[in-house]
Amino acid sequence: MLLPIPVPGAHTLLRNCLVIFTVLVALAAAMTGWCPVSCICNDQLVVHCSGQGLAEVPLDLPLATRQLLLSDNKITELPTVQLNYLSDLVYLDCSNNSLYHLCETTFINLKKLAYLDLSFNKLVQVDDRMFVALASLVVLRLTDNPGLDQMHVDAFAENSALQVLDISRNNLTLLNISTLITLPALRSIGVSGNPWECGCSNEDLCLWMQVEDYKFQDDESTLCRGPAPLSGMRLSELGLKLRVDCHQGLDSWDYLFLLTVGFLIFSGGTVSAWVMGVVMLLYERWENKQENEEGDDEEGSGGEEQEYGYVVLTGTASFIMVMHLAVNVGKARKKYNVPYPKMYLEDGENSNIFNCIQRAHQNTLEVYAPFLFFLTIGGIQHPRVASFLGMTWVIGREVYAYGYYSGDPKKRMRGAFSSVALLGLMGTALCFAKNLLGWQPSCCH
Ligand SMILES: *[C@@H]1O[C@H](CO)[C@@H](O)[C@H](O)[C@H]1NC(C)=O
Ligand SMILES: *[C@@H]1O[C@H](CO)[C@@H](O)[C@H](O)[C@H]1NC(C)=O
Ligand SMILES: *[C@@H]1O[C@H](CO)[C@@H](O)[C@H](O)[C@H]1NC(C)=O
Repeated sequence: MLLPIPVPGAHTLLRNCLVIFTVLVALAAAMTGWCPVSCICNDQLVVHCSGQGLAEVPLDLPLATRQLLLSDNKITELPTVQLNYLSDLVYLDCSNNSLYHLCETTFINLKKLAYLDLSFNKLVQVDDRMFVALASLVVLRLTDNPGLDQMHVDAFAENSALQVLDISRNNLTLLNISTLITLPALRSIGVSGNPWECGCSNEDLCLWMQVEDYKFQDDESTLCRGPAPLSGMRLSELGLKLRVDCHQGLDSWDYLFLLTVGFLIFSGGTVSAWVMGVVMLLYERWENKQENEEGDDEEGSGGEEQEYGYVVLTGTASFIMVMHLAVNVGKARKKYNVPYPKMYLEDGENSNIFNCIQRAHQNTLEVYAPFLFFLTIGGIQHPRVASFLGMTWVIGREVYAYGYYSGDPKKRMRGAFSSVALLGLMGTALCFAKNLLGWQPSCCH
């Protein structure tokens, strides 16, 4: 049977034959240890194509290749199909080329690959799943890609055999290490020469470097570029500092809070001691005046002065109670993650319980000043009564707080008896005033 082939068809046929021939030769080469023109191959299945000025990866590589050296060329792309025929590949050196993009499929079949060098290229980012198939990868060199400024948090998530990772001298400012830190075999990491940003987003990296510094190479050239006050400092000396600075509600803030409260209490104490001194003076004068006027024999005044010790103890107990409520608020801040200086939560599932805990403390503070005043003054003349009422108030505030902590504001009313005690204290203070002024009739003495 004759095919209607026109004259130029002969040429086409010849070309087809040539293509088929080339493919056959390539296949044969692959089977028999043929070596690409610009490469040197040896019996150990090492194919050496370095420094040949190649713009592309040679396509007719022996299928059994174990080591492939492509360094110092001008290769811009790795051919997915041809590269993944090389399923026995263990060692791949692509350093000093012009690679700018790799994708999930580039290394998809290289399950035995243990060494991969991508240094001195033009890569700009490392994506998630880029190395996903490389289950045997032990060493990855990815240094000196001057435009490389992004590395996906899960880029190495599947490389559980990885022992050595070098990402030095790229353009990285941030590195999220949350997956990296879980790699079980990782023992050597290079991150030097990048323009690291030493803020809270890099806190974990800095802390890791400080805690496991033996894993990191070139510690002295792993420096911060910013922010200004930290630039030039080593990441490994900033870990704990950032940890403290970046976690509000943790230790340093607590100390600050306690210092402030301590200062307020101290100044309050000084003022009330002064006031008390003045009042005592007045009381003494009043007593002397009565003595002079009436000439009565005083029986109990010395005893009353001693009993004022109960009043002092009651005041101290009240301070301990207030601090206890403050500590509970501090704990709740951590538990429900409420940063300073936020006082109340507007919404969210934890807002009710947190606001209840906060209110229990605040409400106590709101009446604390009058309480101290009435206790101090009322206790001068009636130390026992004032101390009893004062302790009742202290206990009542605790009951009030724990009722409130249930999250049901109505239950705070269980501590309502503290209000009665406070009114009683006010009574003792008023009574004292009446006696100072010598008003009649004498409802109290
Ligand atoms: C990269 O390769 C070129 C030749 O292509 C060579 O001149 C240069 O020294 C190599 N650079 C490095 C860092 O190896
Ligand atoms: C490195 O990143 C910065 C911005 O973070 C950019 O301005 C600079 O051009 C980058 N360097 C290179 C070589 O791409
Ligand atoms: C790091 O990545 C994890 C998981 O993607 C994320 O939960 C975490 O917030 C990231 N950390 C930082 C500092 O961005």
